[in-house]
Amino acid sequence: MVEKRRKCSSVSGDRGLAEEPRAEIEALREEHRILLKELRRLDKSLARLSLERAEAAAVIPVLESLHALLADRIHPHMLRERRTLRPLLRRSGLSREREIRTIIAGDDGVEKECRQLKRALQRLKREADEREAIRRVIAIGEGVIEVIIEHVHREERILFPRLEENLPSAPSRPPRA
Ligand SMILES: [Fe+2]
Repeated sequence: MVEKRRKCSSVSGDRGLAEEPRAEIEALREEHRILLKELRRLDKSLARLSLERAEAAAVIPVLESLHALLADRIHPHMLRERRTLRPLLRRSGLSREREIRTIIAGDDGVEKECRQLKRALQRLKREADEREAIRRVIAIGEGVIEVIIEHVHREERILFPRLEENLPSAPSRPPRA
């Protein structure tokens, strides 16, 4: 039995919020690693349940875990990115680039996915054990996971490296006389 606790995880907390932009980006990468691991674990569970043609009672807890991950950890992560990365992107002028704009446009949190998942879960609870309802809800969960993994990859492959290229190099040292 998984105990429901609302604790502030290191992923969603501000504990690691560094003042130095490079350290902040590194902290976000670390959050990505943790979140990706969780997302892949849930994705595997959904794939297995789908294959086994599992009953609603087995599918619901996995989707509830996904919902909790979105609401309690991924959403705060995205808000943290918005708060810390956007000023850097503006200052560096990168926010004017189309590719970068597309990435940050998807960074406003995961409210839409949370709502979608919640509705699907409610439907599943009503229509429990209807094969088609179960299949649909698993597909929604897998779709949400895919969207988030893709978003993380675009940050890791494009956004973070571009940002790092545009940050002032080495820590500032007093100029030589
Ligand atoms: Fe991210």
